[in-house]
Amino acid sequence: MGVTIQGMGYYTPEKVLTNFDLEKMVDTSDQWITTRTGIKERRIAQTETLVEMAYRASLRALEEANTEPGEIDAILLATLTPEMSFPASACLLQARLGADRAFALDLSAACSGFLYGLEVANSLLSSGRVGRVLLVGAERLSQIVDWSDRTTCVLFGDGAGAVVLSAQGEGELLSCRLRSDGNYWDVLYADRCGYIRMKGKELFRLAVRLMAEVCEEVLHQAGISVEDVDLVVPHQANIRIMHALAERLNVPMEKVYSNIHRYGNTSAASIPIALYEARQEGRLRRGDLLLLTAMGAGLTWGASLLRF
Ligand code: UT7
Repeated sequence: MGVTIQGMGYYTPEKVLTNFDLEKMVDTSDQWITTRTGIKERRIAQTETLVEMAYRASLRALEEANTEPGEIDAILLATLTPEMSFPASACLLQARLGADRAFALDLSAACSGFLYGLEVANSLLSSGRVGRVLLVGAERLSQIVDWSDRTTCVLFGDGAGAVVLSAQGEGELLSCRLRSDGNYWDVLYADRCGYIRMKGKELFRLAVRLMAEVCEEVLHQAGISVEDVDLVVPHQANIRIMHALAERLNVPMEKVYSNIHRYGNTSAASIPIALYEARQEGRLRRGDLLLLTAMGAGLTWGASLLRF
């Protein structure tokens, strides 16, 4: 049974924080940030709560999928910045949407959250127990960024992306590989109520190697050659990671989508926002073979190969 993305939506806060703004806050420069990361600006939530961003992204996805909130069976919200310790932000989103029929839960897999959610949704849909899933990646990372630490504050942004998934339609999740290794927990973490702490260089090297490995695994599993992939949408953490990944996979950069210059790293929201914009820019069409990959805190990582 297939899994089709029936509708997509995203929301990013209005407030733009540029590299030039950051130059006034910490000892950094537009030149350093641009050349080391590819980021030019990011969005910062002011009045928008996490649930409000998730809600606005979801409304767009539902509208595109021609689906009423009451027709959703399950809501999966991937986030590492939930609104409260409990209840799950997914329940708050459910209430805001009026999705009375759905069960709702949060997924905590950091930057890999959207891919983890996709696989959970795939299992639910394939079992036939649910018909439609709303999968959302939403983050308000600006709340857990130490704005005096130049090694992290330049990297992250806020936003939300959502997809409505159904077993009906042309799309198919061809193969998926999820991995995690808690031995690496201290490479990227935040204490309870604390700030993001990161060993950037180590993470960089791990990201390139581990994402390349899982991408190769899913291609092999599906018996598909990398030349047949139409578009690679990696988690948007650093443009240099994406270049190194493309090189390892032997994929030209024209087939790798990036919007990191606009949003920085939005963790679980980065892939669904990128998917929306890739399609909007004509880079992603129905029937395309799409390779998604991510790595984040946990460590968690994974790849999914889809017929869009
Ligand atoms: O979403 C989860 C996945 N996240 C990632 O995969 C992130 C992976 N890591 C990275 O993207 C990169 O390692 C960073 C962008 C975080 C850092 O880039 P780098 O090329 O590895 O730089 P670095 O940490 O080796 O720092 C080089 C220099 C240092 O100065 P010294 O020691 O050479 O004098 C840093 O102090 O750059 C300095 N530096 C900065 N300078 C200006 C670090 N941050 C900044 C800054 N502005 N914002």
